[in-house]
Amino acid sequence: MLYLFVLGRDAELSKLEIESLLESKGIEFTIKEDNKNVVVLDCKELNPEIIHEFGGIIKIAKVFSNSNRIDQIEESFEKTSIYEGTKNKMEYYIDNFNSNLLSFVEDYLKDYFKSIKLKALYKKNGDPSKLINKSIIENGINFVIFKSYIGKVISITNPLELKKRDLARPEVDYMKVISIRLAKILINICKVKKNGLLLDTFCGSGTILQEALLKGVNVVGLDKDEESISQANKNINWLIKEFKLNSKYEIINLDCARLNEKIKDNSVDGVVTEPYMGPFIRKLPNLLQAKDLVFELSNLYDLLLGNLKKVVKKNGRVVIVIPKFRTMENKTVFIDFRGLVDKHGFVLATKPISYGYKENKLLREIYVLDKV
Ligand SMILES: C[S@@+](CC[C@H](N)C(=O)[O-])C[C@H]1O[C@@H](n2cnc3c(N)ncnc32)[C@H](O)[C@@H]1O
Repeated sequence: MLYLFVLGRDAELSKLEIESLLESKGIEFTIKEDNKNVVVLDCKELNPEIIHEFGGIIKIAKVFSNSNRIDQIEESFEKTSIYEGTKNKMEYYIDNFNSNLLSFVEDYLKDYFKSIKLKALYKKNGDPSKLINKSIIENGINFVIFKSYIGKVISITNPLELKKRDLARPEVDYMKVISIRLAKILINICKVKKNGLLLDTFCGSGTILQEALLKGVNVVGLDKDEESISQANKNINWLIKEFKLNSKYEIINLDCARLNEKIKDNSVDGVVTEPYMGPFIRKLPNLLQAKDLVFELSNLYDLLLGNLKKVVKKNGRVVIVIPKFRTMENKTVFIDFRGLVDKHGFVLATKPISYGYKENKLLREIYVLDKV
């Protein structure tokens, strides 16, 4: 079975998320093709609901045609049940990526809908919230075209659900919180299984902990700030009640430099963390300020990796967000994180992946480390 995965904003991360999640679910797959918007995947039949487990996938479409020959495409359309709704009026959308088949598909569908006397309105810009609100999968159709592949969307991410969860939790400080979307992606990349133990050494108000708990993973969160600990406790208590969860959690007010006092050696299956990255940046630092900050953070991350090496189990994974600093002089100052990875005997599972926009004041890279 061929599927088209329409990727979110950070394509490299989304690709790694697909591979990691399918691997940890034991689903065999091959990636046939990909670009910055789409991955074509060959695998057994997927449950459309799988989309809700991802943070970085916008739509999944099932491919019903893979040819550049018009006669073959027409034959594939004829074999597919194009419209499965019951109303005689509906809307349809076509997402086109790198394909010269668009005008053919547009003409074919126009004729087809006319022939079955269906009032079909062709709409553009099908953003997920709009499509979810319109229940487009049940009431309409969304096609995806990528090169010679034509697919029909079987599931769409629900940003409204994430927004609801984001707004409903009792405590949130948007100045320092990680997005739910990124938290989900990083947790998937970490590959901790249900009932496994995930650690966040800088848990803040607990977004990463919350999203891991929702996947049936047990969690431990540390933060040296008492207020963050109180926020995390309130949020997690709310979450457990709201979603009737029974995974275990522990939230500890502790500096990550002392984590070995509370966390046993070889007890953690995976770590996902967005560490302290220095004070909130309102205006770009100068070169000297950036170098001072890099020095301070390098020492913190050095201590952290030394401690993580002890508590993470063999074959466990650490997924961590590492900052890079742009300066007033238009330079970029890096932490030598690869050096720290080598020093503590971790292995990079993949090259670091940039996250966010080049224009952001703070640049971020996602590092994925394995303890071998
Ligand atoms: C970028 S925030 C993490 C936000 C978190 N991911 C969330 O979504 O709420 C960094 C957190 O690290 C905490 N922190 C700073 N230095 C620390 C240290 N040495 N040990 C443990 N926590 C620390 C801060 O109190 C802050 O809550």
